[in-house]
Amino acid sequence: MKKLVLSLSFLFVVRLAFAVEGMWLPLLLGLLNETEMKSLGMKMTAEDIYSVNKGSLKDAIVHFGGGCTAEVISDKGLLLTNHHCGFGEIQSHSTLEHNYLEDGFWAKTMKEELPNPGLTASFISRIEDVTMAALAGVTEDMDKKTRQSTVDKNIETIKAAAKKEAWEEVMIRPFFAGNQYFMFITVTYKDVRLVGAPPSSIGKFGADTDNWVWPRHTGDFSIFRIYADKDNRPAEYAESNVPLKPKHFLPISLDGVAEGDFTLVFGFPGRTNEYLPSYAISQLADVLDPARISVRDKTLAIWDGAMRSDAQVKIQYADKQAGLANAWKKWKGEVLGLRKTGAVKKKQAYEADFKKVVVLDAKFAKYQKLLPEFEQLYRDITPYSEAKAYYDEIMGGNIEILRAANRFAGLVKAKDKNGEAGYQEEKKKLQEGLTDFYKDYRPEIDQRVVAALMELLVRKLGKEYQSDFLANLLAAAGGNYEKMAENLFKNSFLTSQAAAVAILDKPMEDALKAIANDPACQLLNSLRDVYSAKITPKFNEYNDRIETLQNTYMRAQMEVFSNKKFYPDANSTMRCSYGQVQGYKPQDAVSFSSQTYLDGVMEKYVPGDYEFDVPARLRELYEKKDYGQYGENGKLPVAFIGSNHTTGGNSGSPAIDAQGNLIGLNFDRVWEGTMSDYNYDPSICRNIMVDARYVLFIVDKYAGATNLIKEMKLVHPKKGGSTPKAKQESKADKMNKKSSDPAKSLKAAPKAEEY
Ligand code: ARG
Ligand code: GLU
Repeated sequence: MKKLVLSLSFLFVVRLAFAVEGMWLPLLLGLLNETEMKSLGMKMTAEDIYSVNKGSLKDAIVHFGGGCTAEVISDKGLLLTNHHCGFGEIQSHSTLEHNYLEDGFWAKTMKEELPNPGLTASFISRIEDVTMAALAGVTEDMDKKTRQSTVDKNIETIKAAAKKEAWEEVMIRPFFAGNQYFMFITVTYKDVRLVGAPPSSIGKFGADTDNWVWPRHTGDFSIFRIYADKDNRPAEYAESNVPLKPKHFLPISLDGVAEGDFTLVFGFPGRTNEYLPSYAISQLADVLDPARISVRDKTLAIWDGAMRSDAQVKIQYADKQAGLANAWKKWKGEVLGLRKTGAVKKKQAYEADFKKVVVLDAKFAKYQKLLPEFEQLYRDITPYSEAKAYYDEIMGGNIEILRAANRFAGLVKAKDKNGEAGYQEEKKKLQEGLTDFYKDYRPEIDQRVVAALMELLVRKLGKEYQSDFLANLLAAAGGNYEKMAENLFKNSFLTSQAAAVAILDKPMEDALKAIANDPACQLLNSLRDVYSAKITPKFNEYNDRIETLQNTYMRAQMEVFSNKKFYPDANSTMRCSYGQVQGYKPQDAVSFSSQTYLDGVMEKYVPGDYEFDVPARLRELYEKKDYGQYGENGKLPVAFIGSNHTTGGNSGSPAIDAQGNLIGLNFDRVWEGTMSDYNYDPSICRNIMVDARYVLFIVDKYAGATNLIKEMKLVHPKKGGSTPKAKQESKADKMNKKSSDPAKSLKAAPKAEEY
């Protein structure tokens, strides 16, 4: 207890700066947040949210596939997350014949639920502050390496001593730039099956045009189920596995939300950087984001054109495109928001306050040089971080053939490291992965991307960062980038699976020779040479110093502004964000209210459109206003916004009401507010959630998956909290199902006994 108190003592709350900013550690809510949460309308206690002694909300919250959040919504391990979180899985089960992306998917019995190798669902058993032990022997003047190795050793010791069950795992993470450490005991389930997904025209309605934008009308959800072995423990996929019996699952409220209602978003936010100096923010908005955006502008224009003109390409590139487009659009909003809210100026003002205190108080003398040092370091690092941004984009995801080349380069590395045995082992892995890659690969598209991006690279970074190999290729093509790319693709064996397989079938020495002579592999090597000779040495040198300085600056901010309440930056660990349902005013004379309805879907409807088509069945339900128990005053709620501080990774996080019921599913933020990763501004930062009633409506009325509805616990917290029985199907329901029906799954009645 003493340990906890000590390491927390400098966190104590006096002033409430922003009512709702922050991603808080669940185990500290009682200490730091409970009072404020109650003042915002919460009816629960901190112990109801996080407890190690009894089942609490946290036991229903899952880290989904390591990158998203999901929540348990039935006593049979039913899991709700976003459509875009399950997108890769939905895509991988889709073909032109069974196009689940296009038509949706609904398992009518548990037997029909689809396994997803590699997909995991992790629960948190408990969280502990281990700061004292992790920082034992660490001193303020240590350089980054020495400090890290001391901490690493400490962490190993703590892990070895951690109390846990055989099926649990331990994870220790730094917080506040390495000034605190917390330990997480986790349980990871490995058999997670796809249960249901709406068609993309619902789950991804509005696609890229609407992404990161409010008002929003996307039914961004999909449903999975966790399976366990007969003892309810994690197990690899096996037919004999049984549905998980969770410690807690979330009841779902049918009463919806009103402006001002309390909301809790509980999940695994990925990464934020709220405590950087102004110089870092300028670099981001003026240099790094624009660099990354300019690369993706090119790739996306080419992919998008190809996807729109070819249904096969649309499936093949759906997941890759969504990933690239998502961050691309977010960065654009981020730059806009940072400028609009004067983030750099705000940071400068904050730094001026910091300096004032530091100058006045002798005990802070050691912090006087911090900001000037940052200024110099950011000036020094910028040319390298800019070059790195271009190279990282180009070598990581935009050019697909370089990804294939990278796998073959791994073969060479394995041979160099472990001889023939190493080669054979790597070759086996590579052979297994080839189909995955080529199934979704169209070299004719990639070739155009190569031409466009190599031109951009040379134009933006100049000769200094150009590889000799590229210069030669280009010269051979008379300076024409298209011709250069054409030659490269003509001569590379990486453009087809058959050619790649043929190379692997050769004796090792021949295969290695072919790899060494392949122009795509050579291009990758040459880009890497530039990267490791001209970019990373300086970048790493400055970056290490920036990190060490940031560790000090973080501590300094907490000491200097000791009356301010600090929350740690997101680091993919479990957090609570709380706020209220709230609209916002992005511009003069423009204001957004907090709730959208199905009427808005119909306003956006463009028949046959790539992004804004609406399925016939949904239009029909709209015409009949057949919303069942999910409507409100004759309208069907679709999405709402709130002031919860969220980021990537919070996708799929439950939005929870004052009593602990599910009211929505977090899936996005508003355009102007995506800069909340660097500078949360309560005036325009809003998270976007699908209304739980829309999810239920789609499952029940649209898809007819009443089997799933029966499994859930639907409640009326605002109307006295009674739990309605799953409603009997009305005559109208039955008639609707017979009529034109894009969700083919309706045709066979669900086998109730399966559930
Ligand atoms: N912007 C949301 C997030 O960051 C949703 C992304 C999925 N949608 C899309 N159109 N790519 O994950
Ligand atoms: N869609 C994001 C995700 O995948 C959440 C939106 C955000 O970044 O706030 O986590």
